[in-house]
Amino acid sequence: MKILVTGGAGFIGSHVVDAYLAAGHQVTVLDDLSTGRRENLNPKAAFVEMDVADPRVRELLAAERFEVVNHHAAQVSVPLSAQDPLADLEANGRGTLNLLVAAAEAGVRRFVFISSGGAIYGEQEHLPTPEETVPRPLSPYGVHKLLGESYLPFFAQVHGLEWVVLRYANVYGPRQAPHAEAGVVAIFCSALLAGEQATIYRYDDMPQGMIRDYVYVEDVVRANLAALERGTGQIFNIGTGVPTTTLELYHTVAQAVGVEPRPRFGPPRPGDLRRSLLDVSRARRELDWQPRVSLAEGCRRTIAWLRGEG
Ligand SMILES: NC(=O)c1ccc[n+]([C@@H]2O[C@H](COP(=O)([O-])OP(=O)(O)OC[C@H]3O[C@@H](n4cnc5c(N)ncnc54)[C@H](O)[C@@H]3O)[C@@H](O)[C@H]2O)c1
Repeated sequence: MKILVTGGAGFIGSHVVDAYLAAGHQVTVLDDLSTGRRENLNPKAAFVEMDVADPRVRELLAAERFEVVNHHAAQVSVPLSAQDPLADLEANGRGTLNLLVAAAEAGVRRFVFISSGGAIYGEQEHLPTPEETVPRPLSPYGVHKLLGESYLPFFAQVHGLEWVVLRYANVYGPRQAPHAEAGVVAIFCSALLAGEQATIYRYDDMPQGMIRDYVYVEDVVRANLAALERGTGQIFNIGTGVPTTTLELYHTVAQAVGVEPRPRFGPPRPGDLRRSLLDVSRARRELDWQPRVSLAEGCRRTIAWLRGEG
């Protein structure tokens, strides 16, 4: 297949590009390199340096006739979206709509939209949270991811564009930079490898820290491979359903590095969710997908990569 991967110079997108190429697909990356890195670019993929909100995206798609668009490009920082909601709307709202309009005009067959479980659901009673839960986003980033998802049925009905949504939990692994949504794993790994302490942000009534669902990037990549063929017109949580406190994560990383855990503690940052955990039974059933890499194994592999061994 001829596939466009937006955000293919970023952490997750670059792994998806590698896997699509390894599966024999022809891949073009569109990325503005705002947080992505040239060294993540797979040399076997074509590269277009462009903002997804750029009007020239329509010319590119009209000329290239991609069969599939996989949309990973995004402003990915929740705090930045709170500081500058209009900039987030430009990248994550208008950028996504621009790409959808271009895809519809160019006759793209399938659109894989990358969304966020944690940011869309917000604080929920029902954990692990299934896809049919009413979203309660608590950040402009979450609102704009939901906006992107909400356009898809219109483009399917009016333009015949097939779609799949993958709502990620907290993704971690090699190439992750500490700025991103789930940067905590990258932050802990880098700090502990450098012999430094890292801070666990926590609410007073949660001494172990927040609860999160950490999913290894290789598992996320397999969901993107499955989404090329399966799950049309559906939303899927991509996580593990396994709850992990920040303190447990700290201990797991410390063990993988081989140091004593000596965390500092600090108050929660504005907008920090207390709990986020995804029910992944729909993806198991419909995508024939399940997470395979445990947190301990994923942290070991991430540390090995940071040490230059992987
Ligand atoms: N990391 C996570 O835990 C997580 C969780 C939920 C959802 N996601 C989503 O996964 C996707 C990839 O995130 P990531 O963690 O790999 O972050 P990342 O910052 O490494 O990747 C984002 C990529 O998009 C590019 N980009 C940003 N704005 C752009 C624009 N306007 N035009 C073109 N390119 C642009 C960046 O240069 C970068 O290469 C994003 O859509 C993000 O919202 C990530």
